[in-house]
Amino acid sequence: MKLGRLNHVGVATPSIERSVATYRETMGAEVVRDPFDLPAQGVRVCFVDTPNSQIELIEPLGADSPIVKFLERNPEGGQHHVCFEVPDIEAAHTWFDGKGCRILGPTRIGAHGTPIFFLHPKDMGGVLTEIMESPKQAH
Ligand code: CO
Repeated sequence: MKLGRLNHVGVATPSIERSVATYRETMGAEVVRDPFDLPAQGVRVCFVDTPNSQIELIEPLGADSPIVKFLERNPEGGQHHVCFEVPDIEAAHTWFDGKGCRILGPTRIGAHGTPIFFLHPKDMGGVLTEIMESPKQAH
């Protein structure tokens, strides 16, 4: 296991539209991708590009979205997870499993169209951590 690139920082928000305005107007973000629904994870997603990474804005998609509770505790939204790339998701799964890390749910297709899984924050110093297989082509 070798720690890969920080792909993105996940930020939960009650309104992608308002958060995009903040990133554009307050932070000077110039590249904002088109929002899209990710029903497999119960969220609507919008990527804001930074020079070396991305901010992943996530808004609940429906009342049973996994981020509804987070937003109840943090009504203005807030930093939700970090996502690191790995070359091989199955090898990473075996590795973290062997370390005794709790893996949340099955491996599934994430917002970049590659397989992902989440590690429990209690095994990662309080940080909900997404592990993502690197896209095969440059993005
Ligand atoms: Co993410």
